[in-house]
Amino acid sequence: MVKYLNDCPTNNTKLAAWVEEWAKICKPEGVYWCDGSQAEYNRLCDELVESGLATRLNPKKRPNSLLFRSDPSDVARVEARTYIASEKQEDAGPTNNWIDPKELKKTMLGLYDGCMRGRIMYVIPFSMGPVGSKIAKIGVELTDSAYVVINMHVMTRVGTKVLEVLGADGEFVPCVHSVGKPLAPGESDNGIWPCAPIEQKYIAHFPETREIWSYGSGYGGNALLGKKCLALRIASVQARDEGWMAEHMLILKLTNPEGEVKYVTGAFPSACGKTNLAMLIPSIKGWKVETVGDDIAWMKFGEDGRLYAINPEAGFFGVAPGTNMQSNPNAMASCSKDTIFTNVALTEDGDVWWEGIGYDAPGKLIDWKGQEWDQATATTPAAHPNARFTARAANCPAIASNWEDPAGVPISAFLFGGRRPSTVPLIHQSFDWNHGVFMGSIVGSEVTAAALDLKAGTVRRDPFAMLPFCGYNMGDYFKHWLDIGKTGDADKLPKIFYVNWFRKTPEGKWLWPGFGDNSRVLKWIFNRCDNAIDAEKTQIGYMPKVDDIDRTGLEEKVTREDMEQLLAIDVEGWKKEVEMIKEHYKRFGSHLPKELEDQLAALEARLG
Ligand code: OXD
Ligand code: MN
Repeated sequence: MVKYLNDCPTNNTKLAAWVEEWAKICKPEGVYWCDGSQAEYNRLCDELVESGLATRLNPKKRPNSLLFRSDPSDVARVEARTYIASEKQEDAGPTNNWIDPKELKKTMLGLYDGCMRGRIMYVIPFSMGPVGSKIAKIGVELTDSAYVVINMHVMTRVGTKVLEVLGADGEFVPCVHSVGKPLAPGESDNGIWPCAPIEQKYIAHFPETREIWSYGSGYGGNALLGKKCLALRIASVQARDEGWMAEHMLILKLTNPEGEVKYVTGAFPSACGKTNLAMLIPSIKGWKVETVGDDIAWMKFGEDGRLYAINPEAGFFGVAPGTNMQSNPNAMASCSKDTIFTNVALTEDGDVWWEGIGYDAPGKLIDWKGQEWDQATATTPAAHPNARFTARAANCPAIASNWEDPAGVPISAFLFGGRRPSTVPLIHQSFDWNHGVFMGSIVGSEVTAAALDLKAGTVRRDPFAMLPFCGYNMGDYFKHWLDIGKTGDADKLPKIFYVNWFRKTPEGKWLWPGFGDNSRVLKWIFNRCDNAIDAEKTQIGYMPKVDDIDRTGLEEKVTREDMEQLLAIDVEGWKKEVEMIKEHYKRFGSHLPKELEDQLAALEARLG
């Protein structure tokens, strides 16, 4: 018998039956339907503090904020345990882990059987995108983690209002999540983050049936199933089938001194400063950047033939270490209150601290493992390098007033980029759409440490920054991008640019200051979108002339010679790049579109 802790608030019989079916499998102590209210959020926060899983931060320092410490085995997305379980392995493609869906479901059902004993099953109806927007999608997550519920409250729109839009026969993406740690009668978590051992963790996606099953992890993208699982992996499949785009992209609103507005999206691999770019404060007079989103963009053609983007999320799940008043003051303000911190350090006065916060640790700390930590003697970081803040977008001072426009915002430019100390210039623009798709397909970031088991100095290709997030064969995803170009009118499609903030001199000195000065490059992009400025046609694309990037006030820091280096075309470097791209493309076999092979051949020919 399933015990319900509150009344079923939906007349959607399919949803009610699905909840009942999973309650029978997972055998929780009770089933609770989340209403999404502030009272619900506050009550769960109190319970989490009482159970010892969370620490309430000093309300004078961080009002309405909590700190969690996860298990050391559960600190990040687990790509090695993430599966695209399509019917055919070929449809998952060479970049995804695959298990036959029947086999995977059998294994996981074995794990799910009784997995919620001693816990509550929370039912979270959520909307990715403004509730009721034509571009938005509804999901329902079942979870036995109250931590997940409060994070979903911040990261998505949750509760009764979503069920109203769902109605009696609306469609939803079913998402099942368990931390994989049933409790024996009388047992409690005792303040210890519950999760399952790594070999029992599964983050599974069934693209044909649009289902998400997650087991064993309580952390971030493994557990907050609206984000990477739904809004990217499953949505990318829906987008392919329905003719739209689900991308790992920030969305920013750029206003020039005359008050004209353009919207720009950008795809960058993880840890390349996407959140910083989305919230940057321009260093050039009269320009303004406002944030629409920092991680994901869903884009559909509007009636006028332009692509309109929404941010499907409602919050930021930002990396704390390295965030400071210089790198991102808007992110610092966003997490100054109403924030859930995970795996940062705790100060004696009940505030948080992390490496790169911009000041020394104020006294002794408790590190992310719950141990005393002293900056003078420490040999390990106080905050985990992937420590996070979950903050409301509405608390970001730079949030655009129209960030929740259900119609989305019209996009003028797409940016691609990564960390490339050499070869790739500060900025270049594609000749046309297909050349831009080529640029996206070769996105890569230099490996700086041996941590990834890759040779330092090599480039890790992360096409469209979607490597861990594409829910189908990446070669077919390239084709989908080419198809979007065929559907759209060339004049109305976004212009495509490749930026590189990370150029270094051969001696290893940064050539470009980055952060707020990236607005100087955004200015050139803005003007190119209007064809307001000529560009030079080079072997690799359209480029600014040396004096076309506004250096006002930056003349000493970035000299004309520096600018020449930043915009130089390193023909030998690009020839090596072509060889690396050939290797990269081999991976996709017969799924690599002919158009991209042609683009590569054309680049090679232009280099001479
Ligand atoms: C993220 C990521 O956490 O891209 O957003 O890894
Ligand atoms: Mn991301």
